[in-house]
Amino acid sequence: MQTARSHLNKVMIITGASGGIGAVTARLFAKRGWTVVLAARSEDKLAAIVKEISALGGTAHSVVADVTVQEDLHNLVRQTVARFGRIDVLVNNAGAGISGTLESINVDQLAYIFALNVVAPVAALQAVVPTMKAQRSGIIVNVSSLIEDMAVPYMSGYGASKAALGYLSDAAAIELASYNISVVKVLPGMTKTEFGGNLIQAGTATSLEELFEKAGVLNSVTPDTVAETIWQAVQTPRRKVYVTLTDKFVGNSTRLAPGVTNLLLKAAIQRYAPIEGQGMAKSVRQDLNTAALATVGVAMALVIGVIAWREKWHQKNRRRG
Ligand SMILES: NC(=O)c1ccc[n+]([C@@H]2O[C@H](COP(=O)([O-])OP(=O)(O)OC[C@H]3O[C@@H](n4cnc5c(N)ncnc54)[C@H](OP(=O)(O)O)[C@@H]3O)[C@@H](O)[C@H]2O)c1
Repeated sequence: MQTARSHLNKVMIITGASGGIGAVTARLFAKRGWTVVLAARSEDKLAAIVKEISALGGTAHSVVADVTVQEDLHNLVRQTVARFGRIDVLVNNAGAGISGTLESINVDQLAYIFALNVVAPVAALQAVVPTMKAQRSGIIVNVSSLIEDMAVPYMSGYGASKAALGYLSDAAAIELASYNISVVKVLPGMTKTEFGGNLIQAGTATSLEELFEKAGVLNSVTPDTVAETIWQAVQTPRRKVYVTLTDKFVGNSTRLAPGVTNLLLKAAIQRYAPIEGQGMAKSVRQDLNTAALATVGVAMALVIGVIAWREKWHQKNRRRG
């Protein structure tokens, strides 16, 4: 399905555009004058969004594609170039979550999630790069997740897939820089979409929904906020982009002090999703006590260090005088 040509000649392909973050991002770029090519598996949903964009005077085209099928990705790129002549931006947004402890997770479903969240974005990159190289310009946006920065229990299959995507994204940014192709990863935190409903429950994950609900109430954004972040990331490409300041703080502090994050996650899981009816486990209380003691110890060491340094500095000045 296609609507009238846009006056601006910027062309974006976005996968996973039949709902959630993808659909909102497609609408936003179209509203701002871009030609958008929407891909996903749900033909009817895509057609409805293209119609909506068209009614508002935008330019949109949809291609039914399962991103885990390489031929679908090549068809998507072929159709885009045939109709619009170029590809300025590819947004690798299609993705899904998987839950389950590692001891119980169904490994076939885990393999599918890696095919969807990791292999498909690489295959899509391979499909668009020849066109971007010929143009000597292009931007590839990989929609990763804040989970990339931390090991979240029950969700480690999903987290590992996003960590892998983030790693590949960083390497691709270096490999493609000399062709003037930027590769950006965007790391949304919890976002209000159908993600939770589409999550593949592939193993034991006691009370995960409750945990998500509580965390989501505390900190979640609308897909509009993520779409605006993707827009900004395309205007000024950077290697890694967070959606909110809180996410940036959480991501950076997690990488600086992973032990503290692990402890907090452990405490949160015990509190909100106790396994087999346990309350807050003794080990967590012990860990918290150890952390408190360690903090006091580090603070005392710092104070003693500063006093010793000041004394040494005074001695040196006295000798000089
Ligand atoms: N929501 C969050 O809290 C959150 C947080 C961080 C990161 N993310 C990431 O953001 C991206 C978008 O997620 P969302 O929250 O918008 O989820 P969503 O509402 O479930 O949308 C997922 C989209 O991906 C498409 N999709 C799924 N499997 C596909 C396949 N095999 N081939 C083609 N398209 C496929 C779906 O369309 P069809 O079913 O029509 O194919 C849908 O359009 C994902 O990569 C997700 O990991 C989400």
